[in-house]
Parts: sequence; structure tokens; C-alpha cells
Amino acid sequence: MTVLHPATHLLPNVPSSRDAMRIGPHDISPSLVVAPMAGVTDRPFRSLCRRMGAGLAVSEMVSADPRLRDTAKSRQRTDHSGEAGPIAAQIAGADPRWLADAARHNVDLGAQLIDINMGCPAKKVCNVAAGSALLRDEPLVARILEAVVAAVPVPVTLKIRTGWDRATRNAVQVARIAEGCGIQALTVHGRTRADAFEGAAEYDTIAEVKAAVRIPVIANGDIVDPEGARAVLQATGADALMVGRGAFGRPWLFREIAHFLATGERLPPPDAREWSAIVAAHLDDIHAFYGEHSGVRFARKHVGWYVHGMPGGEVLRAQVNQASTIAEQSAALQAWCVLLMAREQSAPDGARAAVPAGRPSYNNHRTSTARDRARPEEMHR
Ligand SMILES: Cc1cc2nc3c(=O)[nH]c(=O)nc-3n(C[C@H](O)[C@H](O)[C@H](O)COP(=O)(O)O)c2cc1C
Repeated sequence: MTVLHPATHLLPNVPSSRDAMRIGPHDISPSLVVAPMAGVTDRPFRSLCRRMGAGLAVSEMVSADPRLRDTAKSRQRTDHSGEAGPIAAQIAGADPRWLADAARHNVDLGAQLIDINMGCPAKKVCNVAAGSALLRDEPLVARILEAVVAAVPVPVTLKIRTGWDRATRNAVQVARIAEGCGIQALTVHGRTRADAFEGAAEYDTIAEVKAAVRIPVIANGDIVDPEGARAVLQATGADALMVGRGAFGRPWLFREIAHFLATGERLPPPDAREWSAIVAAHLDDIHAFYGEHSGVRFARKHVGWYVHGMPGGEVLRAQVNQASTIAEQSAALQAWCVLLMAREQSAPDGARAAVPAGRPSYNNHRTSTARDRARPEEMHR
């Protein structure tokens, strides 16, 4: 659609929240990372989050299975054209040689950092003993890490959960193995594989990991607002934070966290004009990246997240869901944005029509997580 406002609206002055985290030759500043999320963190979303203040965005996992390398989905997931560096690609699998080969392949495709997935609980991944299932086999973890580190000239990072289940939390042990194998940063999601996405993330284990190793540690799990981000940093002593679901429909969360950590003050949420520009540009990008047929479908879930909790948002959501062409979808958004801006202009001073501050957009959205968990094929490919 016609972007309603110039792209400069998307480039706020993002202050550096803390000293940059260093991973090999890369300064990650601010030290805020977009979580890899299959089906969500495609190139359009990663690029948007980077423009909105994230220091690094890890791409959706790609299987190390060479038989899946040339599928359309794999090609899309490894498309980094125009993306700001450092480009981080995540690989998943259980065979050290396959993973080493996948790492080389991704570097050939532009990856400047390789992340290994040992955190995914999806059934399909675990059935082949990949993802978080690997945490039960520490010798295999070591073989995989050694093989991948030796295979590529770029830094290799690792993403884990705190363990297989609460009785066998071994994140500290895995972290030591990782450090010994040359892993250059470690992300810990504060849940076990058995927890899936249930209950609250716990940060004590992440603090133990941070105390046990010298490589940078990135804390992950349930960070949905600036105050929560500061609390997780204080609780864990981590070098950086990774945010996933909290950024659904709220990519500006990264600049809000960065600003809050740097100044102690909360940024206001985007006004109607900026909200419209962000969402329009995101949809344009999705449509251009996937083409008409898939693009209108991918756009639906993002629009659902954007309007979640907004007065009248269900109207746009329904229109966007019904639209089957780019033109229809874009026209629906544009018309809604005009109304949103008019509503804001007629509102009392300072009232924002768009996004209420500090709203965790997925809290009442368990369906989004449940739905994605119920579609392991989407998670894994
Ligand atoms: C839809 C979805 C897809 C995910 N896909 C991946 C993935 O491809 N690789 C991975 O390591 N973790 C994946 N995760 C886990 C996230 O990276 C993150 O660890 C988890 O959501 C906890 O962080 P959060 O509370 O900030 O969302 C996924 C999570 C969700 C909700």
C-alpha cells in the first residue's frame, strides 16, 4: 500500500541502553536481541525490529537436514538480502556433520553469526532428538558444538532452555561445555523443555549460568515491558536480553526498553500517525517478500497482533482476514488508519488512539502460542 508517512518515522533516535555486548567482531548495541521465532521472525519482521531499536535479530530456525535445504521455505528463511548486519542464522538438528555443513551453507548465504537451537520443544524437533532434547545428551552437545565451531569462520552462539525438566536442570553444565567448545554467546530461555511455554519463566538458573561462564549470556523469557526488562537484567546479571512474544504487534518495544534502561524514563507509545506508518510499511514488506498469495496470509496474524486491545481493532482484523489481495488488504488498513488519526486528533490533549502503554500484546493471546505449538511442521521448517 502507499506508505502513509516517510520511512524516517521508523528511525527514532534509539539511545544505547547499556554497553554493547560483544560477540566475536560484532558489537551488539543496544544489547537487545529479537528471539528466533519460526513463522514470525521472517526478514520483514527482523528488519522492522532492527529499525525499532533491536541490536540483533536471529532468523527462524532452518533444519540442518540437507534434504530440506532447497525447499521454498528454507530458501525464504535464508534470504537476508538488504538486512542490516550482523546477520544471525539459526540452525537446528542433531547430527554434528549435518549441523557443521548447514553452518557453512548459511555462512555462504550471508550469515555473520550462527546460532544453534537447543531450545525448541516442538515435537517434530524433539522426536529426532534435536532442539531442547539435546540437553539430555551432554556428550552429543559437545560433539555438535565442536563440529560447528570448527566449520565456520564466524562466531557460533547457542540457545538453550534451563534443562529437559525441572528435576534435571543442567543449564550450568551445558553452559560450561559450550564455553569450552568455543561458543561465543549463550541464550538461556528460563524454562525447561517440559515447561513448554507454561508458567512463568524463572531467572535464578540464568543467574547461575551467568556466574559460571565468561562468555556473554543473554536472558530470555517473558520480557514484555521496560520495567520487566530491567528486573530481568537485575535478577540475572545477564549481558543482554532476548525478546520474543512481547514484540508481537509491538516492535517498538525494543526502543522502549532501550530508552528506559538508558534513562529510567518510559517512552510514550507510538501515536496514530507513527503506528500507521509502521504497520503500513510492515505490510508492504510482507507483501513484497512473500508475494500476493502467501503475503496476504502472513500479514493477517501480524495485523491481529497489532490491533489486539485497540478499540475497534476487530473491524480491521476481520477486513484484513477476509481480504484475498494485496490491494484489498492495504486499502482496509489505509482506511482504518485515517479513522485512527482522526480519532486521535479529536481526542483530548495527549490522548493516544493507538497503543496503550505497557500492554503485553500476547497475554490474552495464548492461542497464538498454542497454535504455533500445535503446528510443529511450521516450527521446524
Ligand atoms: C511462535 C514461536 C516460534 C518459535 N520458534 C523458535 C525457533 O525457531 N528457534 C528457537 O530457538 N526458539 C523458538 N521459539 C522460542 C523463542 O525464541 C523464545 O525462546 C520463547 O518464545 C521465550 O521468549 P519470550 O517469552 O520472549 O517469547 C519460538 C517461540 C514462539 C512463540
